[in-house]
Amino acid sequence: MIMQRTVLLAISLALAAGITAATAAPVNYQLPDEVAAFKPGPNLEVVQGNCSACHSADYINTQPPMKDKKGFWQAEVTKMIKVYGAPIDDADVGKIVDYLAATY
Ligand code: HEC
Repeated sequence: MIMQRTVLLAISLALAAGITAATAAPVNYQLPDEVAAFKPGPNLEVVQGNCSACHSADYINTQPPMKDKKGFWQAEVTKMIKVYGAPIDDADVGKIVDYLAATY
């Protein structure tokens, strides 16, 4: 009986020590800021609905600065439709281009 108690005590001490050791140094995870989100702006929902199916917003965020924003984004959206087969409604193209040119 005494043996059993000693063993139990030893086990609980070991467990307590293990728990203390595991929790002694709190680990703080600093999550990175959301990088894959679209910036807020008019027609954001149209862009989210049409441009997030195949890739993240990073593809849009990481474009280099450009002179003719409207022309660039018009060509880019046309390319998504014609080359990559994005199912985007004609009526939405203008809204998407306006948003992209104004926001990026
Ligand atoms: C049908 C899938 C699909 C949809 C929907 C889509 N894209 Fe893409 N997009 C692609 C593919 C495929 C690439 C090229 C990926 C690669 O090169 O790794 C790409 C690449 C891009 C790039 C990087 C530059 C380039 O030309 O390769 C941009 C910017 C971009 N897309 C913007 C958009 C925007 C804006 C929309 C919404 C209007 C959109 N995409 C919707 C498939 C899509």
